[in-house]
Amino acid sequence: MITKKLVFDRNREEEWDFSEANEIIRNGGLVAFPTETVYGLGGDATNPEASKKIYAAKGRPSDNPLIVHIHDFKQLEAIAKNVPDDARKLCKAFWPGPLTMIVEKNETIPYETTGGMDTVAVRMPSHPIARRFLQESNVMIAAPSANTSGRPSPTIARHVIEDLDGKIDCIIDGGSCDIGLESSIIDLSTDIPTILRPGYINKEMFEKALGKEVRIDPGIIDANANKGIRPKAPGMKYRHYAPKGNLVVVEGNDENVVSKINELAKTAFAEGKKVGIIATDETKDRYETGNVVTIGDRNDEDSIARHLFGVLRDFDDLEVDTIYSESFGTPRIGMAIMNRLLKAAGHQVIKVD
Ligand code: TXA
Ligand code: MG
Repeated sequence: MITKKLVFDRNREEEWDFSEANEIIRNGGLVAFPTETVYGLGGDATNPEASKKIYAAKGRPSDNPLIVHIHDFKQLEAIAKNVPDDARKLCKAFWPGPLTMIVEKNETIPYETTGGMDTVAVRMPSHPIARRFLQESNVMIAAPSANTSGRPSPTIARHVIEDLDGKIDCIIDGGSCDIGLESSIIDLSTDIPTILRPGYINKEMFEKALGKEVRIDPGIIDANANKGIRPKAPGMKYRHYAPKGNLVVVEGNDENVVSKINELAKTAFAEGKKVGIIATDETKDRYETGNVVTIGDRNDEDSIARHLFGVLRDFDDLEVDTIYSESFGTPRIGMAIMNRLLKAAGHQVIKVD
C-alpha cells in the first residue's frame, strides 16, 4: 500500500484540508496524526475491522486495548456505562489535554477496540490538528501511539514513517509533539482512582482536582518491577521503548554520575564497543568518549520529556552497542520520564552515591 503523506503547517490552520483523511477514517482505513503527547495511529473506534488493522500494522498483541479519542464530553456519555462524578471533575480540570480516563463501557465500542475488556480508555486531545480531525470526521478515533510495537513512541512524523510507511493509508505531518510522553492514564472504574500510567498530569495534580487521595498502581512502581507484580494496564507489562543498544541508567549526584559514566564509557570503548551517552546541556561537554547526545536542559524538565523518545531512536540510527544515561527524577514529571527510561533500560541501574 502507498501511504499518503499530508503536511499541515501548525501556523496556517486555514490551509488544513482534512477531506482525504476524513474519507479514509470513515471507510475503516488508518490515519496517523499528531497529538500534544505523541503521534497516534487512528481508526474508527466503533469499527472492529479498523481496530484489527491497527493491531496488524503495529504488530501489537490484540489483548492490549486502544484509547478512544473524542472531542466532546457527550461522546464519553455515549460510550460509558455510567459517567462517574470524578470523570466530570477531571474533564473540567484537564480536558482537552494529556489525560486518559478508564470507565466502564457500554456496547457502543466493540471488544476488538478494548482488547476484550469491559472498560474503555477515553481521551480528549488538545492538539489543534487532532481536535479538528475529530470534529470534522465526526468519528471517535481509536489511536495507540503510531510506532511499531516495542519501539519508542513517535514524536515527529519521520518516526511514524520509519515504522509504518506502506502499512497504513495516511500520515498527517503536523510537526513535533509538545509534550513527547504519552498521556497520564487514570482508572475510574474502581473505588479509588488509580494512576495506571504516569504522564504530564501527576499525582498531586489529580489529587487537587479531585479533592481526595489517588493511588498509583503498584505494578508500575519501579521497585516492584522485578517482583512479578503485574501492572493493570495491559500495555505497561511489555518491555517497551527498548533501543537496540544495551541501555544502563546511572543515578546519583551530578559529579559522581559524570565520572562514573566516563569510566564506564572508557572501559566499553577499550573493549571495542560503540558507546552512546545521554547527557544534558549542563554536562554534555564533560564526557570524554562516545557519541554524546543532550536530551535537554536540566532546569527545564519539559525539554527532557520532549526529547527522550527521539534520542532513543537516534541511538538506533547510530547503531551504538552500549548506552549510558544520566537519571532524570525531576520534580514534576520525573516519575513519567523515569518510567519510560527505566523500561527502555530493562531496569538496569547503577547507583553512585
Ligand atoms: O498520549 C497517548 O495516550 C497516546 C496518544 C496517541 O493519544 N496514545 C497511547 O496509546 O499512548 P497506547 O495504545 O500506546 O497506550 C495505551 C495504554 C496501554 O498501556 C493500554 O494497555 C492502556 O492504555 N489501556 C487502554 N485501555 C485500557 C483499559 N480499558 N484498561 C486498562 N488499560 C488500558
Ligand atoms: Mg504505545
